[in-house]
Amino acid sequence: PPAFTGERADGASIAALHRQAKHCTRCDLYKDATQVVFGEGPPHAPVVLVGEQPGDREDEAGRPFVGPAGRLLDECLEQAGVDRTLCYVTNAVKHFKFERRGKRRLHARPNAGEIQRCAWWLAAEIELLEPRLIVALGATALYALMGRSVGLTRERGRIVKTATGTPLLVTVHPSYLLRIRDRDEAQAARQAFVEDLERVTSFLG
Ligand code: URA
Repeated sequence: PPAFTGERADGASIAALHRQAKHCTRCDLYKDATQVVFGEGPPHAPVVLVGEQPGDREDEAGRPFVGPAGRLLDECLEQAGVDRTLCYVTNAVKHFKFERRGKRRLHARPNAGEIQRCAWWLAAEIELLEPRLIVALGATALYALMGRSVGLTRERGRIVKTATGTPLLVTVHPSYLLRIRDRDEAQAARQAFVEDLERVTSFLG
């Protein structure tokens, strides 16, 4: 039955989108990445979390937020009282973009064109899921969801609306927290992130 599988009468579903995305050539990032990393979660998740792009670990696993940033996200969600399994977790860009440094693959920021082309998939996911709330984790997700540049520091912690009218909670990316070297500063930034995530709970009930 449609309500259970998340499949629409026309056959559109997250699973079908994921199958299509495996052949995506909308930008060049598919050429060097191992595989597409599509979103995952319940087909009618009330909350959608949107990151930037898969990292090294996600690229290998084929699943979003399973590396260090994902672990930190999990911890902060738990601290905020948000059950990740009730959320659909995805990224603005679905392929890992990197630069090679010897054997290491270092994260490279997706450019505006890559974000815009991949926003087609993100919009399709959101149209199917019809979430009550979307959470933009960082500037790339915010740009992809708003379709224009919006100041992250200005809107951070607030709930704005996407171009299609869905409430959008603006917050930072967990990788940003991992980059802060000063211990007190990192702790304060983490606490502020958890407080942002606490706003999600009322959309899950
Ligand atoms: N960072 C992201 O933005 N997304 C992931 O899936 C992993 C790390």
